[in-house]
Amino acid sequence: MDSPSPLRENIDAALQRDPAARTRLEVFLTSPGVHALAWHRVAHWLWRWEWLLLARIVSSLARFITGIEIHPGAVIGSRVVIDHGMGVVIGETAVVGDDCLIYHGVTLGGNEQVSREKVSGRRHPVLGKGVLVGAGATILGPVTIGDGAKVAAMSVVLTDVPAGALAVGIPAKVKGSAKAK
Ligand SMILES: CC(C)(COP(=O)(O)OP(=O)(O)OC[C@H]1O[C@@H](n2cnc3c(N)ncnc32)[C@H](O)[C@@H]1OP(=O)(O)O)[C@@H](O)C(=O)NCCC(=O)NCCS
Repeated sequence: MDSPSPLRENIDAALQRDPAARTRLEVFLTSPGVHALAWHRVAHWLWRWEWLLLARIVSSLARFITGIEIHPGAVIGSRVVIDHGMGVVIGETAVVGDDCLIYHGVTLGGNEQVSREKVSGRRHPVLGKGVLVGAGATILGPVTIGDGAKVAAMSVVLTDVPAGALAVGIPAKVKGSAKAK
């Protein structure tokens, strides 16, 4: 059997995870997250072929249209959902695993100090599979958020979060395990 297209997967994932979404057509026409991810696939393809300026132009256009800024270098997995989306920023070396759920206002950013010193090639966070990042949360630097972890809304994460953990607060601390939903 043919596997569904990435667009179809994003639409179905949004339908599944956003209780306000009603039909595939509605999601296709109105979801800024689905639109931003579709634009990102184009920008990332251009980036990989070293059409760097064109890639940046495509991602800037996508930000203008959707309010979601994804650097063309960022690696985004399958079935990711960006809900609402406005104000999301995903940096150049960030990685977002399959099945992550990201709400509006989330930053996967560089940490000023680390970025300037260029300690390693990676300056941005890595989200494992099935990570939830609540609205307004900020994750800074080359940290890793383990599979199935949750970052509570408005938290600021500066260190690694283990798989399945719940990270809460500023700076975020692990507060037990994330409840499976
Ligand atoms: C973190 C979250 C996923 C809940 O996960 P959970 O595993 O169900 O955890 P609980 O709700 O049982 O909360 C666990 C503890 O963290 C606290 N907590 C949860 N979210 C918090 C937040 N954003 N800030 C501070 N504390 C928070 C709870 O009060 C609770 O504290 P307690 O143990 O002292 O009672 C949820 O609170 C959250 O932030 N979701 C994001 C959703 C979102 O952004 N929606 C936007 C829709 S428009």
